[in-house]
Amino acid sequence: MTVRVAVIGCGVMGADHARVIANETPNAVLQLVCDPDKARMQDVADACGALHGLTDAAAVAGRADVDAVLIASPDATHADLALDAIHHRKPSLVEKPLAPSPSDILPLLSKENDLGHRLISVGFMRRYDPSYRAMRLAVSEERIGAPLVFHSVHRNVAVPEWFDGPMAITNSASHDLDIARFLLGVEMVQVSAIATRTQAQHSTCPPVMLTLVSEAGQIVTIEVHVAAQYGYDVRGELVGTTGTVELTEPRHMVTNSALNRSGAYAPDWRPRFAEAYRLQNAAWVAGVIAGQPDPVAASAWDGYVCGKIAETAVAALRSGTCHPVALMDAASIYKAK
Ligand SMILES: NC(=O)c1ccc[n+]([C@@H]2O[C@H](COP(=O)([O-])OP(=O)(O)OC[C@H]3O[C@@H](n4cnc5c(N)ncnc54)[C@H](O)[C@@H]3O)[C@@H](O)[C@H]2O)c1
Repeated sequence: MTVRVAVIGCGVMGADHARVIANETPNAVLQLVCDPDKARMQDVADACGALHGLTDAAAVAGRADVDAVLIASPDATHADLALDAIHHRKPSLVEKPLAPSPSDILPLLSKENDLGHRLISVGFMRRYDPSYRAMRLAVSEERIGAPLVFHSVHRNVAVPEWFDGPMAITNSASHDLDIARFLLGVEMVQVSAIATRTQAQHSTCPPVMLTLVSEAGQIVTIEVHVAAQYGYDVRGELVGTTGTVELTEPRHMVTNSALNRSGAYAPDWRPRFAEAYRLQNAAWVAGVIAGQPDPVAASAWDGYVCGKIAETAVAALRSGTCHPVALMDAASIYKAK
């Protein structure tokens, strides 16, 4: 079977997903790309050989020649487009965050629950990154004893002017929140947040530190610094009772010259997580063919939980106090079998 994929949104991520679907995803065809910006849509359609191009996202999911929808438009459009995909019984891979606010995710959970099965996967692609996978294996093979602390560092070069402090949490840190839950296999019950009082250069977004406590009493620290300037840099270390495991930067070389040893940083996330996007999209398409999502993929429930933690973290940042994370009960379709 070949899966005819529609990619909605032809910006930075949508263009990359369209390329991956067209060239690097087994059993997938790039059926159409869609963006209200016609020139951008046409550029991506031409570059990736999409069979069709549309400017109206509301017309995508209902098309008979589309089997599955990849949503890479701005955060605020995700929930409505995913709802539309469910309405037409089409599986979707929705970029993170699933919605800016967890309240927007509730109708998606309710619709999937009514259907009795999952159609939404969320693009928390770190779950597919070989470094994080190796880290998870180290935990399951008990090479560092029982996990106690997870440190995550998330630095971007720069963000647009409209990207504010809460977005650093709801948008950027959502990756760190999801991977912490994925690595530790437990939920977070408490969160506090603090921002530096001195601004980062050329940005209204100061670095933010989150501290979370898991239901098993473990601690997670997240530094999210979206205007770090020097490079795209993601770090992680998991501390266990007998040792630690750290992510290493997947570099192909270092340069030794003039008494120096140096390596380059990527300007953004695409080179760092290229393999993760490729593996994620391949697993998503394989799941569409199998009629059930890949077990590694983040579900709408994972999207809701990360949204709820992020929303609580924003409240904690504003109040300067520690807040409990209040989750509703997960429906049975989201519980591991
Ligand atoms: N997984 C990751 O690592 C990762 C990295 C970056 C961004 N993202 C997510 O991907 C999404 C897109 O981010 P981006 O950086 O590509 O943004 P972008 O601004 O580069 O592109 C967004 C595109 O969506 C189009 N668009 C706007 N409204 C639309 C609508 N209603 N329907 C269809 N298209 C519409 C815009 O014209 C634009 O071309 C965001 O949700 C973002 O959080 C994920």
